[in-house]
Amino acid sequence: MTTVLAALPYRIDVHPAAASGAELAEDARAGLCAPFKELPPKYFYDERGSELFERITELPEYYQARSELSVLRGIAPMLAAGHEPAELVELGSGASRKAEPLLAAMMDGGADVRYTPFDVCPEVLLSSASRLVLRLPGLRVHAVAGDFARHLHELPPPPERGARIVAFLGGTIGNLAPEDRAPFLREVADLLRPGDALLLGTDLAGDPARIVPAYDDAQGVTAEFNRNVLRVLNRELDADFDVGAFSHVARYDPGPPWIEMRLRSLRRQTVTLRGIDLTVEFAEGEEMRTEISCKFTREAVEEMYAQAGLELVEWHTDPRGWFAVSVAQLAGPGR
Ligand code: AVJ
Repeated sequence: MTTVLAALPYRIDVHPAAASGAELAEDARAGLCAPFKELPPKYFYDERGSELFERITELPEYYQARSELSVLRGIAPMLAAGHEPAELVELGSGASRKAEPLLAAMMDGGADVRYTPFDVCPEVLLSSASRLVLRLPGLRVHAVAGDFARHLHELPPPPERGARIVAFLGGTIGNLAPEDRAPFLREVADLLRPGDALLLGTDLAGDPARIVPAYDDAQGVTAEFNRNVLRVLNRELDADFDVGAFSHVARYDPGPPWIEMRLRSLRRQTVTLRGIDLTVEFAEGEEMRTEISCKFTREAVEEMYAQAGLELVEWHTDPRGWFAVSVAQLAGPGR
C-alpha cells in the first residue's frame, strides 16, 4: 500500500461566527419567542441537511434543479466567451453541481480560473472543493464558509485581470424576505466592477399544481429536510425537540407569490433548549415557519435589479418557462 499525501489546490476559510454557534443561539431565541414562531432557512444546511437537499434536487417533483442546469449548460460557452472570466464566485454553492459546467466552459482554452464557493456548511465545501479540483485539473478553489447575508466582505479580492462572475443560483434569492432582497443585491453589486456579471437563478411564478409538489414530494424527502432544522437545534443547542411530533407543511401563497414551509406541532408540547436556557410551548396544530421560497416574474427581477443599481442584460429560461437564469451588470455608463 502506498500513501499519497497530495497538496490539492484549494483553501477553505471558515468564518468564526459560522463556527461558533452564537448566531444560531440568537436566531433561535428570537424566532421561537416571536408570536408567530419562525426559524431562518439557513439552519437546514448542516452536513445531513446539505445531503438531503442534494436528494431533493434529484426528485421527479423538484424541476427547479434540472431546469436551471439545462439553462446553465446552454449558456455556459457564451458566458465564458463574452466575459473572459477569471473567477466564479458562487453564493450558497452547496455541492457545486451547477458550477461545474460553468467552470469547465471558463477553463476551456486553458484560462487560469479561480472558483470561490461560499456556503454555510464547511463539510459540503470540503467535499465539493476536492471533487472539483480533481475533475477540473488546473482549477484553483478558495472556499469561504459563512453566512452570505452577513460575511460577504470575507471574500478574497477579485482577480487583477479578467472578469468576475458572481453566481447566486438555485432560486435561493427567493428565501430572503422581500425587504432584504434589494439591499442584499446591492451588497452583491459591490463585489462587481464594470464588465463583471451577476448570474441569478429565479424560480418563476406559475401553476401551483407544478410548484407545490416540488415542496411536498411523494417520498417525503422535503419533509425530512424541513424537520432537519429541529435536529440541528437538538444538537447545537442541547434541545429536546421530538422530531416525529412535527409534520411537514408546504403552502402556496398566491399573494407574494411564494411557497411557505412550516412545521406543525402534532400535539401540545413543551420543548426545552438547555443550551440557551429557554423553554418554549407549542399548541396542538401550531405552525412554525421555516422557509419562504418566492416565485418571480421577469418584471419582478428587473425591478429588484433596478433597486440594487443593477441592470438586466440577459434573460434565459428553460423551454417550459418554469425557471430563469438572468445576467445582470452594474447599471449606467459604468458597465
Ligand atoms: C435551493 C434554497 C432555493 O427554496 O427551492 C428545496 C430550498 N426548500 N425544497 C428552494 C428548498 C425546499 C430551495 N433553495
